[in-house]
Amino acid sequence: MNLQEKKTKIYLPDEEGIRLAAKEILQGEVVGMPTETVYGLAANAFDDSAILKIFKAKGRPQDNPLIVHIADFEMIHQVAKQVSDTAQKLVDAFWPGPLTMILPKSERISDTVSAGLQTVGIRMPSHPVARELIRACGVPLAAPSANVSGKPSTTTAEHVYYDLNGKIGVILDGGESAVGLESTVAVVEEDAVRILRPGGITVEDFLTVVSTVTVDDGVFTKLEENAKVASPGMKYKHYSPNANVIMVEGSLPDFVDYVAVHQDASTGVLVFDGEEEHFSVPVFTYGKENESSTQANHLFDALREIDRCDLNTIYARVPRKDGVGMAVYNRLLRACGFQVVKAKHSVVLGLTGQSGSGKSTVSAFFAQLGAKMIDCDQIARQVIASEEVLQKLTSCFGEDILENGILNRKKLANRAFSDEKGHTSLNQIMYPLILKEVDQQIQQGKQAGVPLLILDAPTLFESGADRFCDQVLSVLAPKKLRIERICKRDGIMEEEAEKRLSVQMTDDFYQTRSQFVLRNHGDLALLQKEVKRIADTLL
Ligand code: TXA
Ligand code: MG
Repeated sequence: MNLQEKKTKIYLPDEEGIRLAAKEILQGEVVGMPTETVYGLAANAFDDSAILKIFKAKGRPQDNPLIVHIADFEMIHQVAKQVSDTAQKLVDAFWPGPLTMILPKSERISDTVSAGLQTVGIRMPSHPVARELIRACGVPLAAPSANVSGKPSTTTAEHVYYDLNGKIGVILDGGESAVGLESTVAVVEEDAVRILRPGGITVEDFLTVVSTVTVDDGVFTKLEENAKVASPGMKYKHYSPNANVIMVEGSLPDFVDYVAVHQDASTGVLVFDGEEEHFSVPVFTYGKENESSTQANHLFDALREIDRCDLNTIYARVPRKDGVGMAVYNRLLRACGFQVVKAKHSVVLGLTGQSGSGKSTVSAFFAQLGAKMIDCDQIARQVIASEEVLQKLTSCFGEDILENGILNRKKLANRAFSDEKGHTSLNQIMYPLILKEVDQQIQQGKQAGVPLLILDAPTLFESGADRFCDQVLSVLAPKKLRIERICKRDGIMEEEAEKRLSVQMTDDFYQTRSQFVLRNHGDLALLQKEVKRIADTLL
């Protein structure tokens, strides 16, 4: 019979379906078997030629051992050489269920099944159909996950059909797998377990039974192709969709910014339920942000769905790593080929302070460190020269502030600063336009992925520009020093400088509104060092 040309049959898991599936297995064929974790590709564990068909159907490397499934505890003695006290305790606590124990193998388990190892992985699934099928066969069933090697495991009969149609004779349809990820694989030691592959039975679960639980290096780190590893399955790239998947670490806003900057026509995102609205690219979801069990349920389905779309890059949200989350993270890590990046979100630092405090010097130090500078004074000079503003200014402060079409700044300043009302009117005209330009420059900086943006604004709080800032730095200096500096800078008398400072905000005003305060006493080297420290903290 040439299976390549034969369509795979899907049986319902009733008495007849199970009988026919068992018959298929006892004739030396392989069958798609439902379990509570994922679907398995099952064959008689004692029939080497049948076992070889598993490897062939999946395209699985022969150095990757298979798990042997049993229906009842007594069957374990056909598979394991001995069952230690610790193993017995684990059986009592977690079987039937998503735990595979690595135990010394019995003579009946061939090297084909164990890939030459002296141990064997044994599991008693909790899915009733799996156990009935094993019982109907009367032998343990060796079964890896029923997917094409390297692809996500299958959690429905349709998935199995999609991957293996024509390569196997029969699939038993037992509905959707409840857990959604493969079993926990653990080496059993004395009063201890070593987790080779995390799954539905968690570190916390094990600690209710044994004193020590360790997690193998291969769970979170990339192993070399030829490395000698505890679990051969760990060295293969696994669960990968065709698209390049990259996990992006960070909060949702940071993730959204990262995607906005990096996306193109063939980008998609893999995010948590309810986050869809933030993206303009194709969205795939894999469960609720804080619910690892729903993530376990949906991850493989989402990865398969990604494969049905023609996308090159998928940015994925990072799941939590505790409990069942460890398994979710481990599978996603493998789907990504261990690519995890940080959503390096641009930090916007507002820079403000009193006149003469040395704000410009601080600003220059930030510029030297490669920060992008957004200078509100400069923006104000641009804005004030625009037709729109000149019109508003003349209608508010008189036509004669223009001389031959050019603004007489001194005249404007005299009128605008002569009383509170004039001051307020000037601000009402200027601020909205300045803020609009500030917003644009910040967006440009973020799009370009600039790590640090400095918004230099003498009236940062008064104008409302502080709303654009993640953090604010105020530069303060003793009054005497400020007066000296202003006199020198603007060539004015002390009395005039005093007058200007009298309308400035107090130290307290700045202190209560800023995350960082720099006190400039005139030591430039110190000031520069402090600027570097603040930049390092922010980044
Ligand atoms: O939930 C599951 O475990 C599913 C269902 C079908 O039972 N099966 C499954 O099998 O995921 P498979 O072959 O896809 O993954 C078995 C993993 C592989 O990483 C393999 O290397 C490891 O278990 N393994 C099997 N026997 C081992 C042994 N003796 N020592 C170390 N690792 C072993
Ligand atoms: Mg597998």
